[in-house]
Amino acid sequence: MTHIVVLGSTNMDLVTYVARAPRRGETVTGREFRTIPGGKGANQAMAAARAGATVSLIGAVGNDAYGVRLRDNLEHSGVDTDFLRTVEGASGTAHIVVDDEGNNAIVVVPGANGTVDHLSPGDEGLIASADALLLQLEVPLPAVIAGAEAARRHGVRTVLTPSPAQPLPEELLSVTDVLVPNEYEAVTLTGRTDPLDAAVGLLDLVPEVVLTLGEAGVLYVSRDTEPLAVPAHQVAAIDSTGAGDTFAGAYAVAVAEEKPLREALSWAAAAAALSVQREGASASMPYRPEIEAQYTA
Ligand code: RIB
Repeated sequence: MTHIVVLGSTNMDLVTYVARAPRRGETVTGREFRTIPGGKGANQAMAAARAGATVSLIGAVGNDAYGVRLRDNLEHSGVDTDFLRTVEGASGTAHIVVDDEGNNAIVVVPGANGTVDHLSPGDEGLIASADALLLQLEVPLPAVIAGAEAARRHGVRTVLTPSPAQPLPEELLSVTDVLVPNEYEAVTLTGRTDPLDAAVGLLDLVPEVVLTLGEAGVLYVSRDTEPLAVPAHQVAAIDSTGAGDTFAGAYAVAVAEEKPLREALSWAAAAAALSVQREGASASMPYRPEIEAQYTA
């Protein structure tokens, strides 16, 4: 079975559903409030597990009630949490506003994720056993770099979601195989506004780029092949939170299973299309049979 390791964050998402997000200085009345397990690392781990892989998550939760629920939620989806440490203090939280068009705005407070600034005993051995290592930027950069370097030492493919967007050091780029930005992140990293132009610009930094474009689909570019555009599955989105994480987790599984490139991209896009039709991040992630049913060659 495919084995995916994720190094990254767990957050409790504090989600407010509202017709329209407030402008600066404005107060609006929301429709509903929910607490839903999330965090980019945990989301990608759950997406990959539900897509059919054996998955382990390296990270940290706090010793509070959220930490217990975050761990339980991962285990319930079959994610191995042996390398998810419980540390003193608060778990990470994400404060999310979702409007009636399914758009979101997020403030993340790292909490326990901020303690993940190095690899702990056993982490490198776990990474060495994986088919792929998934990384994002919600834990401190030194750990992300150390994880990617460990993966490179053992010939394990690294897939980095550069979110939240920030300048990426050469130390990290030099050990990144695949970058999976969204349009905002690609523009931030390159300063280029045209999606193809931005994706091609990123090839100066890493060998492969999968640019997720929401309703416009996915654009794949690499140093060795022609660009490949895959359309999105047309669905009515109600909440896009975690869609990028769902795509990254499912894509890693598809590639590790050696699906042909176009199929891997479309299969992961099918997973993301399913996730945007449901509320919440982890709560919206599809199981493999649902992805198979949504996917059309
Ligand atoms: O990518 C979506 C995630 O971003 C949410 O689950 C939230 O926790 C933030 O980290």
